[in-house]
Amino acid sequence: MATRVLMVCLGNICRSPLAEGIFRHLSIGKGFEVDSAGTVNYHTGAAPDRRSIEVAAKNGIDISTQKARQLTTHDIADYDHILVMDEDNLKNAQALCISAEQREKISLLTSASGHGATQVTDPYYGNKKDFENVFELVHDCCKSWLAKHT
Ligand code: 4NP
Repeated sequence: MATRVLMVCLGNICRSPLAEGIFRHLSIGKGFEVDSAGTVNYHTGAAPDRRSIEVAAKNGIDISTQKARQLTTHDIADYDHILVMDEDNLKNAQALCISAEQREKISLLTSASGHGATQVTDPYYGNKKDFENVFELVHDCCKSWLAKHT
């Protein structure tokens, strides 16, 4: 059975859609299923932010058909690993847990890498360069995470 991984940020339009696309790209044929969600419902049904679509496309990854959705208690029960982008996401995802076992499924994506960054900072009010930095950081972290779990 595939190992199920869920990428989580706030809006599910900037960081976690990129993380989903990058993880899918890097894990092809390795027995994983990946999706993404946001802790809030502001953007439910929306495509990823244009800047995330663009930086992914520049790196050969198509995330344009992904749609935002909100993280649910069912996700916490159903997924094996819930990888969050920042400390706020961690708190909000943990708040949906009903057991210590569920809380143990949740970790910061950055905790997988020796990159030095302690979280993937929200680029929503940033510029193109911020989105490029998010891409590079998330790519490094997904590679490290997969190295530890395959
Ligand atoms: P994300 O970025 O959590 O990486 O998808 C954000 C998207 C939307 C908002 C904030 C962050 N917002 O305030 O609408």
